[in-house]
Amino acid sequence: MKGVHNIYHHSYTFSFLLVFLALILFHPALSTYVNTMSSSESLTISSNRTLVSPGGVFELGFFKPSALQRWYLGIWYRKVFDQKTYAWVANRDNPLSNSSGTFKISGNNLVLLGQSNNTVWSTNLTRCNARSPVIAELLPNGNFVMRYSSNRDSSGFLWQSFDFPTDTLLPDMKLGYDLKTGRNRFLTSWNSSDDPSSGNTTYKLDLRRGLPEFILINTFLNQRVEMQRSGPWNGMEFSGIPEVQGLNYMVYNYTENSEEISYSFQMTNQSIYSRLTVSEFTLDRFTRIPPSWGWSLFWSLPTDVCDSLYFCGSYSYCDLNTSPNCNCINGFVPKNPQQWDLRDGTQGCVRTTQMSCSGDGFLRLNNMNLPDTKTATVDRTIDVKKCEEKCLSDCNCTTFAVEDVRNGGLGCVFWTGELVEMRKYAVGGQDLYVRLNAADLG
Ligand SMILES: *[C@@H]1O[C@H](CO)[C@@H](O)[C@H](O)[C@H]1NC(C)=O
Ligand SMILES: *[C@@H]1O[C@H](CO)[C@@H](O)[C@H](O)[C@H]1NC(C)=O
Ligand SMILES: *[C@@H]1O[C@H](CO)[C@@H](O)[C@H](O)[C@H]1NC(C)=O
Ligand SMILES: *[C@@H]1O[C@H](CO)[C@@H](O)[C@H](O)[C@H]1NC(C)=O
Ligand SMILES: *[C@@H]1O[C@H](CO)[C@@H](O)[C@H](O)[C@H]1NC(C)=O
Ligand SMILES: *[C@@H]1O[C@H](CO)[C@@H](O)[C@H](O)[C@H]1NC(C)=O
Ligand SMILES: *[C@@H]1O[C@H](CO)[C@@H](O)[C@H](O)[C@H]1NC(C)=O
Ligand SMILES: *[C@@H]1O[C@H](CO)[C@@H](O)[C@H](O)[C@H]1NC(C)=O
Ligand SMILES: *[C@@H]1O[C@H](CO)[C@@H](O)[C@H](O)[C@H]1NC(C)=O
Repeated sequence: MKGVHNIYHHSYTFSFLLVFLALILFHPALSTYVNTMSSSESLTISSNRTLVSPGGVFELGFFKPSALQRWYLGIWYRKVFDQKTYAWVANRDNPLSNSSGTFKISGNNLVLLGQSNNTVWSTNLTRCNARSPVIAELLPNGNFVMRYSSNRDSSGFLWQSFDFPTDTLLPDMKLGYDLKTGRNRFLTSWNSSDDPSSGNTTYKLDLRRGLPEFILINTFLNQRVEMQRSGPWNGMEFSGIPEVQGLNYMVYNYTENSEEISYSFQMTNQSIYSRLTVSEFTLDRFTRIPPSWGWSLFWSLPTDVCDSLYFCGSYSYCDLNTSPNCNCINGFVPKNPQQWDLRDGTQGCVRTTQMSCSGDGFLRLNNMNLPDTKTATVDRTIDVKKCEEKCLSDCNCTTFAVEDVRNGGLGCVFWTGELVEMRKYAVGGQDLYVRLNAADLG
Protein backbone atom coordinates (compact mmCIF):
# COMPACT_ATOMS: atom_id res chain seq x y z
CA MET A 1 0.00 0.00 0.00
CA LYS A 2 2.70 2.33 1.11
CA GLY A 3 4.84 1.67 -2.04
CA VAL A 4 1.94 2.34 -4.37
CA HIS A 5 1.28 5.55 -2.65
CA ASN A 6 4.94 6.56 -2.97
CA ILE A 7 5.10 5.78 -6.67
CA TYR A 8 1.96 7.74 -7.24
CA HIS A 9 3.36 10.60 -5.20
CA HIS A 10 6.65 10.62 -7.11
CA SER A 11 5.10 10.62 -10.54
CA TYR A 12 2.84 13.45 -9.43
CA THR A 13 5.88 15.45 -8.32
CA PHE A 14 7.69 14.53 -11.51
CA SER A 15 4.95 15.71 -13.82
CA PHE A 16 4.57 18.84 -11.77
CA LEU A 17 8.30 19.49 -12.25
CA LEU A 18 7.97 18.92 -16.00
CA VAL A 19 5.16 21.44 -16.24
CA PHE A 20 7.18 23.86 -14.16
CA LEU A 21 10.26 23.41 -16.37
CA ALA A 22 8.20 23.81 -19.50
CA LEU A 23 6.78 27.03 -18.13
CA ILE A 24 10.25 28.38 -17.42
CA LEU A 25 11.71 27.28 -20.76
CA PHE A 26 8.87 28.15 -23.08
CA HIS A 27 7.18 31.02 -21.36
CA PRO A 28 9.68 33.87 -21.21
CA ALA A 29 7.14 36.03 -19.40
CA LEU A 30 7.43 33.89 -16.30
CA SER A 31 11.19 33.55 -16.25
CA THR A 32 12.25 37.08 -17.18
CA TYR A 33 9.56 39.52 -16.08
CA VAL A 34 10.85 40.59 -12.72
CA ASN A 35 10.11 43.90 -11.04
CA THR A 36 12.46 43.83 -8.05
CA MET A 37 16.20 43.92 -7.52
CA SER A 38 17.66 42.75 -4.22
CA SER A 39 20.91 43.98 -2.72
CA SER A 40 22.72 40.91 -4.04
CA GLU A 41 21.54 41.46 -7.63
CA SER A 42 22.50 43.96 -10.29
CA LEU A 43 21.60 45.11 -13.77
CA THR A 44 24.41 45.44 -16.27
CA ILE A 45 24.46 46.73 -19.81
CA SER A 46 25.98 43.48 -21.10
CA SER A 47 23.37 41.22 -19.49
CA ASN A 48 20.42 43.10 -21.04
CA ARG A 49 18.46 42.38 -17.89
CA THR A 50 15.60 44.78 -17.20
CA LEU A 51 12.84 45.16 -14.64
CA VAL A 52 9.24 45.11 -15.87
CA SER A 53 6.42 46.59 -13.83
CA PRO A 54 3.52 44.31 -12.79
CA GLY A 55 0.96 44.76 -15.55
CA GLY A 56 3.77 45.23 -18.03
CA VAL A 57 3.34 48.93 -18.76
CA PHE A 58 6.84 50.10 -17.79
CA GLU A 59 10.35 48.73 -18.16
CA LEU A 60 13.54 49.86 -16.42
CA GLY A 61 16.97 49.25 -17.85
CA PHE A 62 19.91 50.66 -19.78
CA PHE A 63 19.48 52.37 -23.13
CA LYS A 64 21.63 54.13 -25.69
CA PRO A 65 20.09 56.87 -27.84
CA SER A 66 20.77 56.01 -31.47
CA ALA A 67 22.65 59.21 -32.23
CA LEU A 68 24.90 59.08 -29.16
CA GLN A 69 27.67 56.83 -27.92
CA ARG A 70 26.43 57.09 -24.34
CA TRP A 71 24.44 54.87 -22.04
CA TYR A 72 21.67 55.85 -19.64
CA LEU A 73 19.55 54.08 -17.05
CA GLY A 74 15.88 54.86 -17.55
CA ILE A 75 12.24 53.83 -17.55
CA TRP A 76 10.19 53.55 -20.72
CA TYR A 77 6.73 52.45 -21.82
CA ARG A 78 6.72 48.88 -23.11
CA LYS A 79 3.39 48.70 -24.82
CA VAL A 80 3.42 51.71 -27.08
CA PHE A 81 4.30 50.95 -30.66
CA ASP A 82 6.35 53.90 -31.71
CA GLN A 83 9.81 55.15 -30.93
CA LYS A 84 10.55 54.15 -27.36
CA THR A 85 8.88 56.65 -25.06
CA TYR A 86 11.06 57.36 -22.04
CA ALA A 87 9.40 58.47 -18.84
CA TRP A 88 12.43 58.84 -16.56
CA VAL A 89 16.22 58.93 -16.81
CA ALA A 90 18.47 58.50 -13.78
CA ASN A 91 21.79 59.82 -15.06
CA ARG A 92 20.68 62.28 -17.74
CA ASP A 93 23.63 64.60 -17.14
CA ASN A 94 26.15 61.89 -16.23
CA PRO A 95 26.00 59.33 -19.03
CA LEU A 96 28.12 56.21 -19.16
CA SER A 97 30.68 56.75 -21.86
CA ASN A 98 30.87 53.11 -22.95
CA SER A 99 28.99 49.91 -22.59
CA SER A 100 30.34 48.85 -19.23
CA GLY A 101 27.85 49.86 -16.60
CA THR A 102 26.39 48.28 -13.46
CA PHE A 103 23.33 49.28 -11.51
CA LYS A 104 22.96 47.91 -8.01
CA ILE A 105 22.22 48.55 -4.37
CA SER A 106 25.26 49.50 -2.36
CA GLY A 107 25.18 50.52 1.30
CA ASN A 108 21.42 51.23 1.13
CA ASN A 109 21.88 53.46 -1.91
CA LEU A 110 21.09 52.82 -5.54
CA VAL A 111 24.29 53.34 -7.48
CA LEU A 112 25.26 53.34 -11.12
CA LEU A 113 28.88 52.36 -11.69
CA GLY A 114 30.95 53.03 -14.79
CA GLN A 115 33.84 51.16 -16.40
CA SER A 116 36.31 51.56 -13.50
CA ASN A 117 33.65 51.11 -10.85
CA ASN A 118 33.42 54.89 -10.56
CA THR A 119 30.04 56.14 -9.30
CA VAL A 120 28.25 57.88 -12.15
CA TRP A 121 24.98 58.34 -10.31
CA SER A 122 23.74 57.63 -6.79
CA THR A 123 20.65 58.20 -4.67
CA ASN A 124 23.00 59.89 -2.18
CA LEU A 125 21.05 58.87 0.92
CA THR A 126 22.91 59.25 4.17
CA ARG A 127 20.25 57.73 6.38
CA CYS A 128 21.22 54.13 6.71
CA ASN A 129 19.85 51.20 8.63
CA ALA A 130 22.01 48.26 7.72
CA ARG A 131 20.00 45.80 9.82
CA SER A 132 17.09 45.52 7.40
CA PRO A 133 17.53 44.29 3.86
CA VAL A 134 16.69 46.81 1.16
CA ILE A 135 15.21 46.12 -2.27
CA ALA A 136 14.46 48.21 -5.33
CA GLU A 137 11.10 47.78 -7.03
CA LEU A 138 9.42 49.07 -10.18
CA LEU A 139 5.78 49.67 -9.28
CA PRO A 140 2.84 49.27 -11.72
CA ASN A 141 2.54 53.07 -12.13
CA GLY A 142 6.19 53.47 -13.20
CA ASN A 143 7.47 54.67 -9.82
CA PHE A 144 10.85 53.10 -9.11
CA VAL A 145 11.32 52.85 -5.36
CA MET A 146 13.86 51.66 -2.84
CA ARG A 147 12.43 50.29 0.39
CA TYR A 148 13.06 47.91 3.25
CA SER A 149 11.99 44.53 1.91
CA SER A 150 9.59 44.14 4.82
CA ASN A 151 7.84 47.48 4.30
CA ARG A 152 5.58 48.04 1.30
CA ASP A 153 3.93 51.15 2.69
CA SER A 154 4.51 54.13 0.38
CA SER A 155 5.18 56.44 3.31
CA GLY A 156 8.17 54.24 4.17
CA PHE A 157 9.95 54.45 0.80
CA LEU A 158 13.62 55.30 1.30
CA TRP A 159 13.75 56.83 -2.17
CA GLN A 160 11.42 57.09 -5.17
CA SER A 161 11.98 58.18 -8.77
CA PHE A 162 8.68 60.12 -8.65
CA ASP A 163 10.49 62.67 -6.46
CA PHE A 164 13.04 63.30 -9.22
CA PRO A 165 11.10 63.91 -12.42
CA THR A 166 12.87 64.11 -15.77
CA ASP A 167 10.71 65.60 -18.53
CA THR A 168 7.54 63.59 -17.93
CA LEU A 169 4.74 63.68 -15.37
CA LEU A 170 3.10 60.27 -15.06
CA PRO A 171 -0.24 59.57 -13.38
CA ASP A 172 0.10 59.57 -9.53
CA MET A 173 3.31 61.61 -9.73
CA LYS A 174 3.32 65.02 -8.04
CA LEU A 175 4.50 68.27 -9.55
CA GLY A 176 5.32 71.02 -7.05
CA TYR A 177 6.54 71.47 -3.50
CA ASP A 178 7.04 68.82 -0.87
CA LEU A 179 7.17 71.25 2.06
CA LYS A 180 8.57 68.59 4.42
CA THR A 181 11.76 68.20 2.38
CA GLY A 182 11.62 71.62 0.67
CA ARG A 183 11.96 69.91 -2.68
CA ASN A 184 10.23 71.49 -5.68
CA ARG A 185 9.57 68.75 -8.23
CA PHE A 186 9.54 70.10 -11.78
CA LEU A 187 9.97 68.94 -15.37
CA THR A 188 13.04 69.73 -17.49
CA SER A 189 13.09 69.12 -21.23
CA TRP A 190 15.49 66.78 -23.00
CA ASN A 191 18.24 68.63 -24.85
CA SER A 192 16.80 67.21 -28.06
CA SER A 193 14.49 64.34 -28.95
CA ASP A 194 17.47 61.96 -29.01
CA ASP A 195 19.51 63.42 -26.14
CA PRO A 196 18.26 63.07 -22.55
CA SER A 197 20.69 65.63 -21.10
CA SER A 198 18.95 68.59 -19.44
CA GLY A 199 17.51 71.05 -21.93
CA ASN A 200 16.61 74.70 -21.51
CA THR A 201 12.90 74.46 -20.76
CA THR A 202 11.24 73.76 -17.42
CA TYR A 203 7.68 73.52 -16.16
CA LYS A 204 7.77 74.58 -12.57
CA LEU A 205 5.55 75.67 -9.68
CA ASP A 206 6.30 79.26 -8.66
CA LEU A 207 4.92 80.49 -5.36
CA ARG A 208 4.75 84.12 -6.54
CA ARG A 209 3.15 86.03 -3.63
CA GLY A 210 1.51 83.06 -2.00
CA LEU A 211 -0.60 82.28 -5.04
CA PRO A 212 1.17 79.35 -6.68
CA GLU A 213 1.25 79.17 -10.48
CA PHE A 214 2.91 76.84 -12.94
CA ILE A 215 5.26 78.61 -15.33
CA LEU A 216 6.78 77.32 -18.56
CA ILE A 217 10.28 78.81 -18.60
CA ASN A 218 12.94 78.80 -21.30
CA THR A 219 16.45 79.85 -20.32
CA PHE A 220 18.71 80.94 -23.13
CA LEU A 221 22.15 82.46 -22.52
CA ASN A 222 21.21 82.93 -18.85
CA GLN A 223 18.13 84.88 -19.91
CA ARG A 224 14.96 83.53 -18.28
CA VAL A 225 11.90 83.86 -20.45
CA GLU A 226 8.48 82.95 -19.08
CA MET A 227 6.59 81.42 -21.98
CA GLN A 228 3.26 80.62 -20.35
CA ARG A 229 1.56 81.00 -16.97
CA SER A 230 -1.13 78.70 -15.63
CA GLY A 231 -2.74 81.43 -13.54
CA PRO A 232 -3.55 80.52 -9.92
CA TRP A 233 -5.74 77.55 -8.95
CA ASN A 234 -9.25 78.93 -8.58
CA GLY A 235 -10.65 76.04 -6.57
CA MET A 236 -11.57 74.07 -9.66
CA GLU A 237 -8.81 74.49 -12.24
CA PHE A 238 -5.83 76.44 -13.49
CA SER A 239 -7.37 78.57 -16.22
CA GLY A 240 -4.11 78.42 -18.20
CA ILE A 241 -3.87 74.59 -18.20
CA PRO A 242 -6.28 73.35 -20.87
CA GLU A 243 -7.31 70.15 -19.09
CA VAL A 244 -10.75 68.91 -20.04
CA GLN A 245 -12.97 68.59 -16.98
CA GLY A 246 -15.40 65.70 -16.68
CA LEU A 247 -13.45 63.09 -18.66
CA ASN A 248 -14.47 59.57 -17.69
CA TYR A 249 -10.92 58.23 -17.56
CA MET A 250 -8.81 60.88 -15.82
CA VAL A 251 -9.10 63.13 -12.74
CA TYR A 252 -6.90 66.02 -11.58
CA ASN A 253 -5.78 66.78 -8.05
CA TYR A 254 -4.38 70.02 -6.66
CA THR A 255 -3.36 69.95 -3.00
CA GLU A 256 -2.31 72.93 -0.94
CA ASN A 257 -1.67 72.34 2.77
CA SER A 258 1.13 72.50 5.32
CA GLU A 259 2.84 69.43 3.82
CA GLU A 260 2.67 70.05 0.10
CA ILE A 261 1.59 72.28 -2.75
CA SER A 262 1.26 69.94 -5.65
CA TYR A 263 -0.60 68.97 -8.76
CA SER A 264 -1.15 65.45 -10.03
CA PHE A 265 -3.51 63.46 -12.18
CA GLN A 266 -4.81 59.94 -11.91
CA MET A 267 -6.22 57.53 -14.48
CA THR A 268 -9.58 56.06 -13.55
CA ASN A 269 -9.35 53.67 -16.52
CA GLN A 270 -6.00 51.88 -16.42
CA SER A 271 -6.09 50.79 -20.05
CA ILE A 272 -5.70 54.43 -21.08
CA TYR A 273 -2.25 56.04 -20.74
CA SER A 274 -1.63 59.75 -20.40
CA ARG A 275 1.46 61.83 -19.64
CA LEU A 276 2.59 65.45 -19.50
CA THR A 277 5.92 66.03 -21.20
CA VAL A 278 7.92 69.23 -21.54
CA SER A 279 9.88 69.62 -24.78
CA GLU A 280 12.19 72.41 -25.89
CA PHE A 281 9.38 74.95 -26.36
CA THR A 282 6.13 73.32 -25.32
CA LEU A 283 4.33 71.44 -22.58
CA ASP A 284 2.28 68.64 -24.11
CA ARG A 285 -0.31 66.17 -22.92
CA PHE A 286 -0.11 62.90 -24.82
CA THR A 287 -2.75 60.22 -24.46
CA ARG A 288 -3.02 56.67 -25.72
CA ILE A 289 -6.50 55.25 -25.95
CA PRO A 290 -6.87 51.62 -27.10
CA PRO A 291 -7.29 50.22 -29.70
CA SER A 292 -4.74 52.80 -30.89
CA TRP A 293 -1.15 51.81 -30.03
CA GLY A 294 0.40 55.23 -30.45
CA TRP A 295 0.29 58.57 -28.66
CA SER A 296 -1.99 61.37 -29.72
CA LEU A 297 -1.38 64.97 -28.76
CA PHE A 298 -4.28 66.01 -26.55
CA TRP A 299 -3.18 69.59 -25.96
CA SER A 300 -0.04 71.68 -26.14
CA LEU A 301 1.09 74.90 -24.47
CA PRO A 302 1.52 77.68 -25.45
CA THR A 303 -1.71 77.26 -27.40
CA ASP A 304 -1.86 80.55 -29.31
CA VAL A 305 -0.55 84.08 -29.60
CA CYS A 306 -2.43 85.16 -26.46
CA ASP A 307 -0.30 82.82 -24.35
CA SER A 308 2.78 84.90 -25.25
CA LEU A 309 3.16 86.81 -22.03
CA TYR A 310 4.69 89.94 -23.48
CA PHE A 311 2.32 90.33 -26.43
CA CYS A 312 -0.06 92.83 -24.82
CA GLY A 313 1.44 95.29 -22.32
CA SER A 314 0.15 96.38 -18.93
CA TYR A 315 -3.56 97.18 -18.47
CA SER A 316 -4.36 95.52 -21.78
CA TYR A 317 -5.59 92.00 -22.35
CA CYS A 318 -5.29 89.60 -25.25
CA ASP A 319 -8.46 88.24 -26.86
CA LEU A 320 -8.33 85.82 -29.80
CA ASN A 321 -11.81 86.95 -30.86
CA THR A 322 -10.89 90.60 -31.43
CA SER A 323 -8.76 92.22 -34.10
CA PRO A 324 -6.26 93.43 -33.13
CA ASN A 325 -5.88 90.91 -30.30
CA CYS A 326 -4.74 93.46 -27.70
CA ASN A 327 -7.46 95.47 -25.99
CA CYS A 328 -7.15 98.29 -23.46
CA ILE A 329 -9.36 97.74 -20.41
CA ASN A 330 -12.27 100.22 -20.57
CA GLY A 331 -11.11 103.41 -18.87
CA PHE A 332 -7.59 102.99 -20.27
CA VAL A 333 -6.09 104.23 -23.56
CA PRO A 334 -2.99 103.08 -25.48
CA LYS A 335 0.20 104.38 -23.97
CA ASN A 336 1.77 104.73 -27.41
CA PRO A 337 -1.05 105.27 -29.95
CA GLN A 338 1.26 105.17 -33.00
CA GLN A 339 2.65 101.74 -32.08
CA TRP A 340 -0.78 100.55 -31.00
CA ASP A 341 -2.18 101.48 -34.43
CA LEU A 342 0.60 99.42 -36.01
CA ARG A 343 -0.77 96.50 -33.96
CA ASP A 344 2.12 96.49 -31.52
CA GLY A 345 0.40 96.25 -28.14
CA THR A 346 3.52 95.62 -26.09
CA GLN A 347 3.58 99.06 -24.50
CA GLY A 348 0.11 98.56 -23.08
CA CYS A 349 -2.33 101.15 -21.82
CA VAL A 350 -2.67 103.95 -19.26
CA ARG A 351 -5.57 105.26 -17.21
CA THR A 352 -7.76 107.96 -18.72
CA THR A 353 -8.48 109.34 -15.25
CA GLN A 354 -6.36 108.62 -12.16
CA MET A 355 -7.95 106.63 -9.35
CA SER A 356 -9.17 108.83 -6.54
CA CYS A 357 -8.83 107.42 -3.09
CA SER A 358 -12.54 107.75 -2.50
CA GLY A 359 -15.53 107.35 -4.77
CA ASP A 360 -13.95 104.84 -7.17
CA GLY A 361 -15.87 101.87 -8.51
CA PHE A 362 -15.12 98.57 -10.25
CA LEU A 363 -15.38 97.32 -13.80
CA ARG A 364 -16.03 93.58 -14.13
CA LEU A 365 -14.09 91.70 -16.83
CA ASN A 366 -15.29 88.13 -17.38
CA ASN A 367 -13.57 84.94 -18.61
CA MET A 368 -10.13 86.25 -17.65
CA ASN A 369 -6.85 84.54 -16.93
CA LEU A 370 -5.83 86.56 -13.87
CA PRO A 371 -2.96 89.07 -14.18
CA ASP A 372 0.47 87.97 -12.97
CA THR A 373 0.20 87.48 -9.21
CA LYS A 374 3.76 88.64 -8.49
CA THR A 375 2.27 91.87 -7.10
CA ALA A 376 -0.84 90.29 -5.61
CA THR A 377 -1.74 89.48 -2.03
CA VAL A 378 -4.28 86.93 -0.94
CA ASP A 379 -6.73 86.71 1.93
CA ARG A 380 -8.18 83.22 1.92
CA THR A 381 -10.73 83.57 4.66
CA ILE A 382 -12.48 86.82 3.78
CA ASP A 383 -16.09 86.68 2.60
CA VAL A 384 -16.25 87.56 -1.11
CA LYS A 385 -18.80 90.27 -0.36
CA LYS A 386 -16.01 92.06 1.52
CA CYS A 387 -13.47 91.96 -1.35
CA GLU A 388 -14.71 95.19 -2.90
CA GLU A 389 -14.92 97.00 0.43
CA LYS A 390 -11.42 95.91 1.42
CA CYS A 391 -9.93 96.95 -1.93
CA LEU A 392 -11.59 100.38 -1.74
CA SER A 393 -10.21 100.89 1.76
CA ASP A 394 -6.62 100.62 0.42
CA CYS A 395 -5.82 103.53 -1.91
CA ASN A 396 -3.13 101.40 -3.60
CA CYS A 397 -5.45 98.49 -4.43
CA THR A 398 -6.13 98.46 -8.16
CA THR A 399 -7.94 95.17 -8.74
CA PHE A 400 -9.41 92.14 -7.05
CA ALA A 401 -10.69 88.67 -7.90
CA VAL A 402 -12.27 85.80 -5.98
CA GLU A 403 -9.68 83.29 -4.75
CA ASP A 404 -11.79 80.12 -4.72
CA VAL A 405 -14.77 80.30 -7.05
CA ARG A 406 -16.51 77.17 -5.74
CA ASN A 407 -19.83 77.41 -3.88
CA GLY A 408 -20.36 81.11 -4.47
CA GLY A 409 -16.75 81.98 -3.65
CA LEU A 410 -14.35 82.35 -0.76
CA GLY A 411 -11.33 84.59 -0.26
CA CYS A 412 -9.97 87.46 -2.33
CA VAL A 413 -6.87 88.24 -4.35
CA PHE A 414 -5.79 91.90 -4.41
CA TRP A 415 -3.39 93.61 -6.78
CA THR A 416 -1.63 96.83 -5.88
CA GLY A 417 0.82 97.19 -8.74
CA GLU A 418 0.49 97.15 -12.51
CA LEU A 419 -1.76 94.58 -14.13
CA VAL A 420 0.22 92.54 -16.63
CA GLU A 421 -0.14 89.41 -18.75
CA MET A 422 -3.91 89.25 -18.97
CA ARG A 423 -5.92 87.30 -21.47
CA LYS A 424 -9.62 86.79 -22.04
CA TYR A 425 -10.94 83.34 -22.92
CA ALA A 426 -13.99 82.52 -25.01
CA VAL A 427 -15.02 80.10 -22.24
CA GLY A 428 -13.59 79.48 -18.78
CA GLY A 429 -11.39 81.85 -16.85
CA GLN A 430 -12.91 83.98 -14.10
CA ASP A 431 -14.14 87.47 -13.22
CA LEU A 432 -11.64 90.25 -12.58
CA TYR A 433 -12.70 93.53 -10.96
CA VAL A 434 -10.64 96.54 -12.04
CA ARG A 435 -10.80 99.75 -10.01
CA LEU A 436 -11.70 102.87 -12.01
CA ASN A 437 -12.33 106.50 -11.23
CA ALA A 438 -16.09 107.10 -11.07
CA ALA A 439 -15.70 109.35 -14.13
CA ASP A 440 -14.69 106.33 -16.23
CA LEU A 441 -17.45 104.02 -15.06
CA GLY A 442 -20.77 103.54 -16.82
C1 LIG B 1 21.07 42.67 -25.81
O1 LIG B 1 20.08 43.24 -26.63
C2 LIG B 1 20.60 43.68 -27.88
C3 LIG B 1 19.47 44.40 -28.60
O2 LIG B 1 18.25 43.80 -28.35
C4 LIG B 1 21.11 42.50 -28.66
O3 LIG B 1 21.65 42.94 -29.88
C5 LIG B 1 22.21 41.82 -27.85
O4 LIG B 1 22.63 40.66 -28.51
C6 LIG B 1 21.69 41.44 -26.48
N1 LIG B 1 22.78 40.92 -25.68
C7 LIG B 1 22.63 39.87 -24.89
C8 LIG B 1 23.85 39.48 -24.12
O5 LIG B 1 21.59 39.26 -24.81
C1 LIG C 1 35.27 50.96 -21.63
O1 LIG C 1 36.38 51.86 -21.63
C2 LIG C 1 37.51 51.40 -20.92
C3 LIG C 1 38.56 52.48 -20.92
O2 LIG C 1 38.33 53.43 -21.89
C4 LIG C 1 38.01 50.11 -21.55
O3 LIG C 1 39.09 49.62 -20.78
C5 LIG C 1 36.89 49.09 -21.55
O4 LIG C 1 37.32 47.92 -22.24
C6 LIG C 1 35.67 49.64 -22.26
N1 LIG C 1 34.61 48.67 -22.11
C7 LIG C 1 33.82 48.34 -23.13
C8 LIG C 1 32.79 47.29 -22.84
O5 LIG C 1 33.91 48.83 -24.24
C1 LIG D 1 34.60 46.42 -10.12
O1 LIG D 1 33.97 45.76 -9.04
C2 LIG D 1 33.73 44.38 -9.28
C3 LIG D 1 32.95 43.80 -8.13
O2 LIG D 1 33.40 44.31 -6.93
C4 LIG D 1 35.08 43.69 -9.45
O3 LIG D 1 34.88 42.31 -9.75
C5 LIG D 1 35.85 44.34 -10.61
O4 LIG D 1 37.13 43.80 -10.73
C6 LIG D 1 35.96 45.83 -10.40
N1 LIG D 1 36.52 46.44 -11.61
C7 LIG D 1 37.43 47.38 -11.56
C8 LIG D 1 37.91 47.89 -12.88
O5 LIG D 1 37.86 47.83 -10.51
C1 LIG E 1 24.66 62.90 -5.66
O1 LIG E 1 25.72 63.72 -5.24
C2 LIG E 1 26.58 64.11 -6.30
C3 LIG E 1 27.75 64.86 -5.68
O2 LIG E 1 27.30 65.75 -4.75
C4 LIG E 1 25.80 64.97 -7.30
O3 LIG E 1 26.64 65.35 -8.36
C5 LIG E 1 24.64 64.14 -7.84
O4 LIG E 1 23.85 64.94 -8.68
C6 LIG E 1 23.79 63.62 -6.69
N1 LIG E 1 22.81 62.68 -7.23
C7 LIG E 1 21.50 62.85 -7.09
C8 LIG E 1 20.64 61.80 -7.68
O5 LIG E 1 21.01 63.80 -6.50
C1 LIG F 1 22.66 70.00 -26.23
O1 LIG F 1 22.46 70.17 -27.62
C2 LIG F 1 23.28 71.13 -28.22
C3 LIG F 1 22.90 71.24 -29.67
O2 LIG F 1 21.51 71.24 -29.82
C4 LIG F 1 24.75 70.73 -28.05
O3 LIG F 1 25.56 71.73 -28.57
C5 LIG F 1 25.06 70.54 -26.58
O4 LIG F 1 26.36 70.04 -26.41
C6 LIG F 1 24.09 69.57 -25.95
N1 LIG F 1 24.31 69.54 -24.52
C7 LIG F 1 24.68 68.43 -23.91
C8 LIG F 1 24.87 68.53 -22.45
O5 LIG F 1 24.83 67.39 -24.51
C1 LIG G 1 20.21 75.97 -24.65
O1 LIG G 1 20.78 77.25 -24.46
C2 LIG G 1 22.16 77.32 -24.82
C3 LIG G 1 22.62 78.72 -24.52
O2 LIG G 1 22.31 79.07 -23.22
C4 LIG G 1 22.34 76.98 -26.28
O3 LIG G 1 23.70 76.97 -26.60
C5 LIG G 1 21.74 75.61 -26.56
O4 LIG G 1 21.82 75.34 -27.95
C6 LIG G 1 20.30 75.56 -26.12
N1 LIG G 1 19.80 74.22 -26.30
C7 LIG G 1 18.82 73.95 -27.12
C8 LIG G 1 18.44 72.52 -27.22
O5 LIG G 1 18.24 74.81 -27.75
C1 LIG H 1 -5.32 64.26 -3.85
O1 LIG H 1 -4.07 64.36 -3.19
C2 LIG H 1 -4.15 64.29 -1.76
C3 LIG H 1 -2.77 64.52 -1.19
O2 LIG H 1 -1.81 63.76 -1.84
C4 LIG H 1 -4.73 62.95 -1.36
O3 LIG H 1 -4.87 62.90 0.04
C5 LIG H 1 -6.09 62.78 -2.04
O4 LIG H 1 -6.58 61.50 -1.77
C6 LIG H 1 -5.98 62.94 -3.54
N1 LIG H 1 -7.29 62.92 -4.13
C7 LIG H 1 -7.59 62.14 -5.16
C8 LIG H 1 -8.97 62.27 -5.70
O5 LIG H 1 -6.78 61.37 -5.63
C1 LIG I 1 -11.49 51.84 -20.57
O1 LIG I 1 -11.14 52.37 -21.83
C2 LIG I 1 -11.21 51.44 -22.89
C3 LIG I 1 -10.67 52.12 -24.13
O2 LIG I 1 -11.39 53.27 -24.43
C4 LIG I 1 -12.65 50.98 -23.05
O3 LIG I 1 -12.71 50.02 -24.07
C5 LIG I 1 -13.12 50.39 -21.72
O4 LIG I 1 -14.47 50.06 -21.82
C6 LIG I 1 -12.91 51.36 -20.60
N1 LIG I 1 -13.22 50.71 -19.34
C7 LIG I 1 -14.05 51.22 -18.47
C8 LIG I 1 -14.24 50.46 -17.21
O5 LIG I 1 -14.64 52.29 -18.67
C1 LIG J 1 0.82 102.74 -1.23
O1 LIG J 1 1.96 102.80 -2.10
C2 LIG J 1 2.91 103.79 -1.72
C3 LIG J 1 3.97 103.86 -2.80
O2 LIG J 1 4.32 102.58 -3.27
C4 LIG J 1 3.47 103.41 -0.35
O3 LIG J 1 4.42 104.37 0.07
C5 LIG J 1 2.33 103.33 0.65
O4 LIG J 1 2.80 102.86 1.90
C6 LIG J 1 1.24 102.37 0.15
N1 LIG J 1 0.09 102.44 1.06
C7 LIG J 1 -0.46 101.37 1.56
C8 LIG J 1 -1.65 101.60 2.42
O5 LIG J 1 -0.04 100.23 1.34
